Amino acid sequence: MNKLIAIAGGSTLLYIVLSVLMAVLPGIELSQVPPGPEVNQLTLWQQKGRQVYISEGCVYCHTQQVRPQAIDRVFGRPSAPGDFAYQTPELLASERTGPDLTNIGKRQSSKIWQYIHLYDPRAVVPQSVMPSFPALFKLVAQAPQGTQPVPVPKAYAPAHGVVIPSPDAQALVAYLLSLKQPALPNTQAAGAPAAAAQAPTGATTAAGPTGSKGASTFNAADGAKLFASTCAACHGAQGAGVPGVFPPLAQNPVVNAKDPTEHIHVVLHGLHGRVINGITYAAQMPSFESQLSDSQIADIIDHERTSWGNQAPTVTAKDVAAVRAKK
Ligand code: HEC
Ligand code: HEC
Repeated sequence: MNKLIAIAGGSTLLYIVLSVLMAVLPGIELSQVPPGPEVNQLTLWQQKGRQVYISEGCVYCHTQQVRPQAIDRVFGRPSAPGDFAYQTPELLASERTGPDLTNIGKRQSSKIWQYIHLYDPRAVVPQSVMPSFPALFKLVAQAPQGTQPVPVPKAYAPAHGVVIPSPDAQALVAYLLSLKQPALPNTQAAGAPAAAAQAPTGATTAAGPTGSKGASTFNAADGAKLFASTCAACHGAQGAGVPGVFPPLAQNPVVNAKDPTEHIHVVLHGLHGRVINGITYAAQMPSFESQLSDSQIADIIDHERTSWGNQAPTVTAKDVAAVRAKK
């Protein structure tokens, strides 16, 4: 009998000690980590979106943790404890059927893209296996005043009526767009190309990953990589755009213009409200002024100017610097 008590008591004690050592103490320690710089508390609206994210099961397929591994660099820098200061419970998740969403607000900042993608992922990512979430939208004959219908491309739009986002969809997208990974101080030097493309360098003419070579040589590989990580989310990997939502860059007059000033200007300062080939685009093009160096922008532009049937003179980092200086 005494032996039995000793075994039961001993193992219970061991269990308690190990639980405290391996779960409780690290938990207490983590809860005292101060929020990292630029890590903000969610607004009430974004918190509601987070609830929708949980209840719709997005966590089953999407992680929010960037591991310190080379294959995770496309998603951002490795996650740090301070990133999660305001997130309890953390939505780290373990399955990655879809991409990690830690930095999705930066990677895909277009609200309109997010709505179309939730309504039917295939409309913007043809090969997508993500389920559609039509229940987050309402189909109405006419959009109520002050509400912008979602510009679903024709092939995916309902035959009649227009699609408008429900409050749940609006909150969910507000939450998704809040998922931006702040740069860690002193971690940018090590930047691999993908990480450097994600992290704003703030540098204007500084050497990016492309800076070590002569400023006038166009690096096709870098241009293609940077285009894939910064532009393809909207304009498509093949520059085909999304009909009526994001303009194609293949055969685009600005991209094929001899004088690259306008092209450089659009990438530096963004664009909104321009009618292109008779089409008004509801979405807007973000500015990349603070995110990309001159030589990175030159490489991207040269990639556009020599791909998908486009044929236009290439540009140099100097050309970009000149347009940047003009404002
Ligand atoms: C069954 C798995 C699955 C579920 C559930 C799921 N997704 Fe996805 N998701 C994917 C896959 C696969 C992709 C990659 C293809 C694509 O972009 O559509 C993706 C892509 C995405 C992207 C684009 C990521 C990028 O880097 O371009 C976003 C944003 C996203 N999902 C949000 C959500 C949200 C919000 C929910 C919940 C409402 C959700 N997903 C539910 C599988 C899933
Ligand atoms: C969040 C979505 C989005 C991203 C990311 C994006 N663009 Fe755009 N881009 C747009 C939209 C929308 C327009 C059209 C705006 C308008 O018509 O007012 C546009 C317009 C353009 C135009 C002008 C086309 C014309 O005919 O005037 C060029 C060039 C361009 N983008 C290049 C790029 C490059 C290069 C990148 C990456 C560095 C990029 N875009 C990233 C959405 C995006």
